[in-house]
Amino acid sequence: MKNMKKIIVKLDKRSYPIYIGKNILSDKSIFSKIKEKKFALVTNNKIKSLHLKKIKTPSLKKDIIILKDGEKFKNQDSINKIYNHLLKNKFSRDSCLVAFGGGVIGDTTGYASATYQRGINFIQIPTTLLSMVDSSVGGKTGINHELGKNMIGAFHQPIAVIIDTENLKTLSIKQFNAGMAEVIKYGIIKDKKFFDWIEKNTDKIKEHDTQSLIKIIKRSCEIKSEIVAQDEKEKNIRALLNLGHTFGHAIENNLGYGKWLHGEAIACGFLIAASISVQLGKMKNSEYLKIKNLLESFNLPVKLPKDLNINKLFETMLLDKKVKDNSIVYILPNGIGKAYIANSISKKKVIKALKDHAS
Ligand code: GLY
Repeated sequence: MKNMKKIIVKLDKRSYPIYIGKNILSDKSIFSKIKEKKFALVTNNKIKSLHLKKIKTPSLKKDIIILKDGEKFKNQDSINKIYNHLLKNKFSRDSCLVAFGGGVIGDTTGYASATYQRGINFIQIPTTLLSMVDSSVGGKTGINHELGKNMIGAFHQPIAVIIDTENLKTLSIKQFNAGMAEVIKYGIIKDKKFFDWIEKNTDKIKEHDTQSLIKIIKRSCEIKSEIVAQDEKEKNIRALLNLGHTFGHAIENNLGYGKWLHGEAIACGFLIAASISVQLGKMKNSEYLKIKNLLESFNLPVKLPKDLNINKLFETMLLDKKVKDNSIVYILPNGIGKAYIANSISKKKVIKALKDHAS
């Protein structure tokens, strides 16, 4: 297909393609490459009515499982709903799930496919910017627990990711901007040129100029794929992708899931991380301000939510998966374009950074 970009996530026998382009969902040739024959497509009612018609391959739409929409439904009930459908309809090990939606659908469907009959294949068709550039790639699947986000899950790679930029047309500005937080994150951790390009092209991105959308999605997926190929199970450098996430998850947990979008929470989170880097002399204040300005230009939060108790927030951070020996492992930027794993940041510095960002 003309103008379609393809990236390979290189994981030996489990390598898989990411296809990116405009109107590619209607391209039957993409799906003809997939050898599985029996599919169940998992989505929500909103995505079904807005976008299902774009998929022109009938076998993909024969069996549809509808989940409730929203982060609070990324839970065991949704997983059971998928299992029940698969068991009642005699889905065997060689069948395949299709996650058609945002991060909640992708993570939930991925976890169901990781565990159904000890693991079946699945395809990601992300429909939000955030899921296109982050959650659909790299095989992190899972659900939330009342004591923490993404606490239950598995690493399970999809067999293909299909990203159609046309799906972004119906996304709210708020959701789009939340996805931009993850895009900006890639610039901060790995690619200063990309960060600068985003800064210069904010208007075009906001206008949804197709080439600009393809550029930001492609570059984000390339960076993520390279990192995942080197460290699939997050033993070392994959942790860099968690920039802002320890703070972000704690914000989401304290506010109640769904009050702030995930991208909003991590944006505020990586700005707080940047301010710790400034305290440590690892980042110039001017670079901190560049990040802050870019977040503001996408209407992303640069202050913590009102009425959030800073000490309680810190306690929640201690519950994060990134805690080792009761000490929080932080991902901190080392200027713009590089990041590192920091193991011994004093509580005092973190509390100061949190207080500096109180509303
Ligand atoms: N969202 C971070 C990762 O996939 O590792």
